[in-house]
Amino acid sequence: MTAIIQQIKERFSQSLVKSFGENFAATDPLIVAASNPRFGDYQCNISLSLAKELKQKPREVAATLLKNLEIDDLCQPTEIAGPGFINLTLKPSYLETQLKDLIIDNRLGVAGANPSQKIIVDFSSPNIAKEMHVGHLRSTIIGDCIARILEFRHHQVIRLNHVGDWGTQFGMLITYLQEAYPSALTQADALDLGDLVSFYKKAKIRFDEDENFKETARQAVVKLQSGDPQSRQAWQLLCQQSRREFQKIYDILDIKLIERGESFYNPYLEAVITELDQQGLLTEDNGALCVFLDGFTNKEGDPLPLIVKKSDGGYNYATTDLAAICYRVRQDKAERIIYVTDAGQANHFAQVFQVAKKAGFLPDNVAVVHVAFGLVLGEDGKKLKTRSGETVRLQELLDQAIACSLADLEKRLASEEREETSDFIAKTAETVGLSAVKYADLSQNRNSNYVFSYDKMLNLQGNTAPYMLYAYARVQSISREGGINFQDLSANSPLILKDESELILAKQLLQLPEVIRSVEEDLLPNRLCDYLYELSKKYNRFYENCPVLKAAEPIKNSRLVLCDLTARTLKLGLSLLGIPVLERM
Ligand code: ARG
Repeated sequence: MTAIIQQIKERFSQSLVKSFGENFAATDPLIVAASNPRFGDYQCNISLSLAKELKQKPREVAATLLKNLEIDDLCQPTEIAGPGFINLTLKPSYLETQLKDLIIDNRLGVAGANPSQKIIVDFSSPNIAKEMHVGHLRSTIIGDCIARILEFRHHQVIRLNHVGDWGTQFGMLITYLQEAYPSALTQADALDLGDLVSFYKKAKIRFDEDENFKETARQAVVKLQSGDPQSRQAWQLLCQQSRREFQKIYDILDIKLIERGESFYNPYLEAVITELDQQGLLTEDNGALCVFLDGFTNKEGDPLPLIVKKSDGGYNYATTDLAAICYRVRQDKAERIIYVTDAGQANHFAQVFQVAKKAGFLPDNVAVVHVAFGLVLGEDGKKLKTRSGETVRLQELLDQAIACSLADLEKRLASEEREETSDFIAKTAETVGLSAVKYADLSQNRNSNYVFSYDKMLNLQGNTAPYMLYAYARVQSISREGGINFQDLSANSPLILKDESELILAKQLLQLPEVIRSVEEDLLPNRLCDYLYELSKKYNRFYENCPVLKAAEPIKNSRLVLCDLTARTLKLGLSLLGIPVLERM
């Protein structure tokens, strides 16, 4: 199915050509959703911008367009408003036929992209032996949602975990491992280092207090880089331990990722330097190799360099990202590369992208996007921390969400005097708790900071996961109450959209393809959340105004279809956010 807005655009494009000639075949007719429902559903704004070009009054342009516009099957008689806008109101008969198509379409109108693209989503990407913090949680949730939406649109998505598994810190970690756990590498069973975060801290203390330790650590880096088997083994051990911890979080949150950490690109780093050199982009500065950047200056206004090889011969984060771009473009044949990290890395990516373009690593047909996001704040408005000021551990945060959700559920069950099995209670609390965390993150415009509050995210009212899940479960309860199997609803009996709230709900149901398209383009998952929230509200209004089970046929069937389409849209939309539905809650 073609999105409604697309169908309207096509009609206007035809009228543009008829009215003003072939030159206007590619002119964007500027169709947007109406700013106010009083003016209809859509609005065409092209007359105003064309007026100058055609040296006519905007209202004249609009009148010509209208005369040549063939849109009677879609819209009610159109009129020109104000200085020359064309307001469009969809016809109930058109809505009815469109909805009928949805009944038998399990994609609910969302077509697959044609042509589809090869897209890399680089997300989550925590660092070995360091904590996976809430920033990584945001990256994980947002990146997974974006990947799900692109996959649903039939793009070929590679979900990459660009784990921080390389760098000078490993010298310190390996040295500490050998000092504190001398048998770690000789034992048959890989030893459990327990809490890697405190392991890291202890190593850091040793590193800072002892010059000898520091020197050994430095040598350990060199040994590791030169491929010394024992150092590699120690490094592997640390990576495995971290990986196991990360995987627990991915399992809880149902996240799929392919690990391709920084170390993966080690064999390609020197070639990056060679290519930059061949392009004449390298400058030596105090022994370090750099590329000077346009538009980046230091406080004194001097141009800033991007260092790609340090004076000690080591490479950095940026060099690895340059090598990763080459690999993703040349080997993976990616056409779009999406990086999901906190906004603090905006400069890093702008610089890396600039150098990659200059060096010819990034052809024009490959798009690179930094999907940035803001901070997670505590209820005090400061960066989220535990009471004692430590970084919040993700496992604890998720456990806490489930615990709060369980407490809410038990209260609700008691007040409703409902008995449920312990299985039901545990599963519902877990789904609601985890969904609440995901939804709270995704429903914010990712560019802003947001306040992490269990109370807010678990509220049954408002733009929250529980509200959405509840709306879905309520529809399912209608089918239970009325003994109705939604799958058996007659697709042949008529759809009747009479009540205002039915029309409003129908229009909302038909918006899904447009919303998905916009998320695919701008990578803002909150648009999908807003859409689902609006849908739930419009459904509730419909449900208040229009009896369903008590209505007479054929109205009853028609309303049941609206219920079912709402539930299916919620289920699909939530699944794209990484949230499963509950039949009862
Ligand atoms: N490991 C990095 C961090 O924790 C994120 C990596 C993002 N991806 C990339 N290609 N640089 O901040």
